[in-house]
Amino acid sequence: MSTMKAPRGRRPLSIVALVICISAFIAFLYTERISSLSSSTSFFSFKSCSKRGAIAKSIKSITDERSTEEEEIVKSEVDDRFEFDPNECSLAHGKWVFNNSLKPLYTDRSCPHVDRQFSCVKNGRPDNDSDYLRWEWQPDDCILPRFNPKIALEKLRGKRLMFVGDSLQRNQWESFVCLVESIIPEKHKSMRREHSHAVFQAKEYNATIEFYWAPFLVESNSDNPIIADPKSRILRVDSVSKHAKFWVGVDILAFNTYVWWMSDLKINSLWGSFGNGEEGAEELDTPIAYKIGLKTWANWIDSNIDPNKTRVFFTTMSPTHTRSEDWNRKDGIKCFNETRPVMKRGHWGTGSNKHIMSIVSNVVRKMKFPVTFINITQLSEYRIDGHASIYNELGGQLLTDEQKTDPLRYADCIHWCLPGVPDTWNQIFLAYL
Ligand SMILES: *[C@@H]1O[C@H](CO)[C@@H](O)[C@H](O)[C@H]1NC(C)=O
Ligand SMILES: *[C@@H]1O[C@H](CO)[C@@H](O)[C@H](O)[C@H]1NC(C)=O
Ligand SMILES: *[C@@H]1O[C@H](CO)[C@@H](O)[C@H](O)[C@H]1NC(C)=O
Ligand SMILES: *[C@@H]1O[C@H](CO)[C@@H](O)[C@H](O)[C@H]1NC(C)=O
Ligand SMILES: *[C@@H]1O[C@H](CO)[C@@H](O)[C@H](O)[C@H]1NC(C)=O
Ligand SMILES: *[C@@H]1O[C@H](CO)[C@@H](O)[C@H](O)[C@H]1NC(C)=O
Repeated sequence: MSTMKAPRGRRPLSIVALVICISAFIAFLYTERISSLSSSTSFFSFKSCSKRGAIAKSIKSITDERSTEEEEIVKSEVDDRFEFDPNECSLAHGKWVFNNSLKPLYTDRSCPHVDRQFSCVKNGRPDNDSDYLRWEWQPDDCILPRFNPKIALEKLRGKRLMFVGDSLQRNQWESFVCLVESIIPEKHKSMRREHSHAVFQAKEYNATIEFYWAPFLVESNSDNPIIADPKSRILRVDSVSKHAKFWVGVDILAFNTYVWWMSDLKINSLWGSFGNGEEGAEELDTPIAYKIGLKTWANWIDSNIDPNKTRVFFTTMSPTHTRSEDWNRKDGIKCFNETRPVMKRGHWGTGSNKHIMSIVSNVVRKMKFPVTFINITQLSEYRIDGHASIYNELGGQLLTDEQKTDPLRYADCIHWCLPGVPDTWNQIFLAYL
């Protein structure tokens, strides 16, 4: 295994270091699959990230500052009458509050649709490390209603909801399915998982909750099967049509795209029609390719989707936690062994690229179509404790005990345990629905 050290010293972390650190994990993205989509999941060598910590700060003790008045609202929020106005309050700003009596609506055993990749408890995450399930996101200016499966299904009645994007979007989709599926009797629901498209059906509600695999949103030669080497990937930054034909007629679309773009500094990009096909690809700096790709997506939405019939959401970057020095953990190994969220307000690590965030907001702001953000980045940044870490799988196999002793190499600090943080993303999503 070749070992590469990230740049040392005090200068701000460059995108180079970020890419290197992310590439240490990028292999997890190659385990992407819906059902049979598991071809060409080869690994390239992992590279280790520098884990020089700064001063280890003790995590502040957590206090629950909810007033009794707010508790009253909490109690009534399962009620249909709860009125939530997204214009009145930003769900992106807030804090995580520990609530020992919090219980997730499902477990990775009760819900049959949690991929092994996200089934942390089944994969051995121990009971004494289950606090990660008891944190509740509390926005600063309002109370976020709990996820109510009945309300969610009512909102979806007669509709198709589709999550489109990469494995993080699949993480969110599985969370959504699991949050609602337990209240549907066995014979009134079904799941069909195909190559790039999966459909969960709630028959009584005539509703579907679907996932469509398009990790870059735009077309690429690495959509399916996945090409492990980022250098061999070619993106058609000017075209979504191959994917977009699956999006037509869907009532609620929720997109994301981020982490796949971050596997290299430059991206082979193709646009226009060249006689010499893929030979005509040009290397573009990642942010430039991202911007063109996102504009292509935006243009398709603006030109093809009727805002009177369809709602469009965009889930912002899901942060990766591969550099424990980002949260001042001395001698930490990525997100391994983290059991509490970062409590420092506004904490922002190197796994969320602010430049990409600004590209997303700028492109979306100029759209004709009103896209709603599910802005999960800041709240997820705090949750270093929520990743699959060593309770994950690799190429369809659980990690061996020996692999578990090497978290630098094997811990997955990109994806999230289910139940877990993506349930909160969906709590926010439902509030906007
Ligand atoms: C904690 O969760 C329980 C169970 O859902 C709930 O009854 C209680 O109100 C919550 N406490 C606070 C302070 O939010
Ligand atoms: C949980 O228990 C295991 C085995 O007893 C121990 O190795 C681990 O450090 C404990 N974890 C926490 C968060 O206390
Ligand atoms: C079920 O929903 C689809 C749209 O998803 C709609 O076209 C169809 O008419 C609905 N069927 C019934 C019986 O409501
Ligand atoms: C949407 O509905 C409004 C009001 O009914 C109408 O003025 C507008 O033209 C519609 N837009 C489209 C794209 O159909
Ligand atoms: C994990 O953390 C616990 C306490 O936070 C510590 O006692 C234990 O040694 C750590 N395990 C490893 C392998 O670092
Ligand atoms: C998401 O929220 C963060 C603050 O938490 C903000 O900096 C960022 O601009 C927001 N992103 C979008 C696309 O609105």
